[in-house]
Amino acid sequence: MGGLVKLSYPEGATPIDDLSDLKPAWVKIQEDLNNVEAENIAAASSKYLLKSVSHPPKWFNIPFLQKIHYDMFHDVWQWAGQFRKTQTCPGIKPHQIYLALVDLCDDVHYWCQERCDLTIIEQAARIHHRLVFIHPYPNSNGRFSRLVSDRYLKACKTPFPNWPVDLNKDGQSRTKYITALKKADVGDYEPLIFFMTEHSTNSRRITQILSKKLEENRRTEAQPKP
Ligand SMILES: Nc1ncnc2c1ncn2[C@@H]1O[C@H](COP(=O)(O)OP(=O)(O)O)[C@@H](O)[C@H]1O
Ligand SMILES: [Mg+2]
Repeated sequence: MGGLVKLSYPEGATPIDDLSDLKPAWVKIQEDLNNVEAENIAAASSKYLLKSVSHPPKWFNIPFLQKIHYDMFHDVWQWAGQFRKTQTCPGIKPHQIYLALVDLCDDVHYWCQERCDLTIIEQAARIHHRLVFIHPYPNSNGRFSRLVSDRYLKACKTPFPNWPVDLNKDGQSRTKYITALKKADVGDYEPLIFFMTEHSTNSRRITQILSKKLEENRRTEAQPKP
């Protein structure tokens, strides 16, 4: 399968080395692939983003992240919901993926349950960046990580970014996005936070206020009761 498929890549995309795992035999050009993936992602997005979302510690764990990925890509790729076994760039060593995700899940649980100085939007930006940095899957990591950070924001009652529709193609939005991720690679999350709030369904200011309010609520709830 996939013998005649012609693919093209925007800046920062992980090339698809092995097309033998592509499920639909009729996919021959990039546009076919984009369309079939988009349909699968749309169905998963309504399942994971449109319904109410519980407190992150209840679902932010490795089996559930695998399930989200499976639901996003199982119509298209054999490896949906399965970690990659080969090296990618970006991407950590394949054998380190599992433990890196354990670490991320631990951090997320800590942020939600203990006193945390990061704003919700910074937590979401860090989740988004950590997931793409780890790059758990052979491909699709950008889209998967955006859905997970959106779900996190929704669980925290904070508006999620209206990610630019042209983010998967070369252009101004993608250049800004990849530049922000590269800054996050060296520990500077501000440009990514700015990118996410700039494209928020609410204004940057409203996002900041909501995020602050939720943080205060969490702190009040975490106070020992007299
Ligand atoms: N330097 C980088 N640091 C962190 N993440 C990056 C970097 N460069 C690219 N990325 C992320 O990796 C994604 C590309 O990986 P890929 O698996 O092809 O995802 P997708 O197929 O969903 O675009 C980009 O969209 C971006 O989210
Ligand atoms: Mg890709």
